[in-house]
Amino acid sequence: MIDKSKVKERVLELHRLINIHSHNYHSLDAPTINDHEYDALFNELLDLESKFPQHKYSYSPSQRVGGKPLEGFKKVEHIAPMLSLDNAFNNADMTDFNKRLLDRLVGEEVVAFSCEPKLDGIAVNLSYRNGNLEIATTRGDGKVGEDITHNIKTLNSIPLSLLNKNSELPNFIEIRGEVFIEKKDFDLANTKASDEGTKTFANPRNAAAGSLRQLDPAVAASRPLKFFAHGIGHIEEGSFELPGSQSELLKLYKSWGLPINPLSTVAEDITACEDYFQKVSSDRENLPYEIDGVVYKVNDLKKQISLGQVSRAPRWAIARKFPAEVGTTTVKKISFQVGRVGSITPVAEFIPVNIGGVSVSHASIHNFDEIERLDVREGDVVKIKRAGDVIPQIISVDKNKRKKGSQKISLPKRLPCCKNDLIKIEGEAILRCTAGLDCPAQKTGSLIHFVSRNALNIDGLGERIIDLLVEQGLVVNFADLFRLRKENIINLEGFGEKSATNLINSIQSSKETTLSRFIYSLGIREVGEATAMNLALNFNNISNFIDASDEDLLEINDIGPVASRFIREFLSNEENTNLVKDLLSLGVNPREIEIKNDNPFSSKLIVITGSFSTIARSQLKEELIRVGARVSSSVSSKTDYLVAGDKPGSKLSKANELGIKILEEAEVLSLLKN
Ligand code: IVH
Repeated sequence: MIDKSKVKERVLELHRLINIHSHNYHSLDAPTINDHEYDALFNELLDLESKFPQHKYSYSPSQRVGGKPLEGFKKVEHIAPMLSLDNAFNNADMTDFNKRLLDRLVGEEVVAFSCEPKLDGIAVNLSYRNGNLEIATTRGDGKVGEDITHNIKTLNSIPLSLLNKNSELPNFIEIRGEVFIEKKDFDLANTKASDEGTKTFANPRNAAAGSLRQLDPAVAASRPLKFFAHGIGHIEEGSFELPGSQSELLKLYKSWGLPINPLSTVAEDITACEDYFQKVSSDRENLPYEIDGVVYKVNDLKKQISLGQVSRAPRWAIARKFPAEVGTTTVKKISFQVGRVGSITPVAEFIPVNIGGVSVSHASIHNFDEIERLDVREGDVVKIKRAGDVIPQIISVDKNKRKKGSQKISLPKRLPCCKNDLIKIEGEAILRCTAGLDCPAQKTGSLIHFVSRNALNIDGLGERIIDLLVEQGLVVNFADLFRLRKENIINLEGFGEKSATNLINSIQSSKETTLSRFIYSLGIREVGEATAMNLALNFNNISNFIDASDEDLLEINDIGPVASRFIREFLSNEENTNLVKDLLSLGVNPREIEIKNDNPFSSKLIVITGSFSTIARSQLKEELIRVGARVSSSVSSKTDYLVAGDKPGSKLSKANELGIKILEEAEVLSLLKN
């Protein structure tokens, strides 16, 4: 029997040994012990953990699989935001990028870059505390992601505890990287899915995303997901000192047992970057995974810090994208889809064609004018372009190959799904269905929007279930969702006791929401997320919003006459206001925005100009409004402060002329903090 005082020590030693052997096996392809020896270590750990559950740690190698499915995803704020990248599409863009860097890095004549393939996967953040994986999150909106630790733990190549052979470990670090699925594994997974009659994925990126957004870790465990680390978020250095460059950081990650893309290298200058791009372009076909370009990062980490960021992208990095890929195929059918607010989008269905490893079978044709411009018809041979995530587009029609007797596509008068007329509004290229919520497609579209991620975010309520609920007459409008009982859905196709309970629970928990999400969820035309936030900040609570007059709306910065007309139209329709009241009486609770009034900005009229390095302009604006400021877009004698970022332009000179107090980024942020 093991001495109780030694259990912890032995358990941790077993973690260390298993982690090293697992890394040798899964990441290096170079095991140094055989399977039996490995199993013996693992069994010893399992045995100790079952006898001494107090030593079963969340980062134990035994905890990779077998966790219970979660009820929902927890939101987690990233300590350092997860940024995106600016794009360069040609050499001129690269020359400009290099020039911008040299202009800012005063005294430097040449910049060296870390060059890395740009994986077409899913960005994730891994937070390690004292070397142990604490939490793994998706990128989300860059500020807040979702907790996917249960799924990430199933990736054998991601260490649950960092190996620390030669270096100290930081107390806390956010490691950023990409989860992806290799092309061959994607094909295998899709063949299996179609054999089993389950959903196939459009491309490897969707397959990886779909696997990570699962509540049950068994799904991710069954998919061969891979990971490459490529960046850093927040670090609490303590006794630990970061290396001086991105390339050394990648080496350090490697020594900690994290997989690094072996094609990463250093280019001493921008010309060497172009050589790297050519080399990777020609190897692209043969790589086991999909890439959509390469990433160049200023190699020196101190220089990265001094360069900072603009809006949501760092100044020190750029994605050099591959050109869009083109394929040729035949149009099988052109049909019309009805959007949430009645807009009709023509959709072309093709004989599937493989473009850059992705099977393309549909393209949306922007609008009806585009059909006329292209004169595309059923049976036509067309050229299609696919670029990254963008929906494929028809670029041209080969009229020489057109079959005799082909029919020009004419404006449909009505759609098969509803008997109402379609209209084309003067001056708009878009065709609309006039039926509003009487049109079944619009009704489901608006419900899908209402429950979507950035609206009420009702987990587990997708298009299929909404279709089913509408079809069964269980749901006619948004409020009906909150009237659903378990008994109503338990017998529907695909439901059981557990899934019915889960769905009701997630509907109920969506009642606690924010005012901006609530306004956005109503699906008012021209009211996207930013406008909804603006409305929430200005009206504070839902009853103020319902009572908003035209003048109130027009006074709000950024809400123009068009949006204001749609909002008024929405609010003046009693059916809509009754629906909102119904939602509130069913317990939907859009939280009021609390505005603090005890600070230097309250009631002040502020104008923001230029760009900022540590905060997005929209966020700065939001924070100022939150503390009671009024933010306007033009400088006048009434302006109290001008907040000036980089390249402030004419507003700065005007403010100076008028003697208005100018605040710089650092000053505003520090005042906001206090
Ligand atoms: S660095 C601040 N490096 O590209 C820099 N990103 O368009 C942020 N990506 O969200 C990312 N490979 O998911 C970086 N070697 C690489 C990458 C990479 C793929 C993705 C990443 C990011 C997106 C930005």
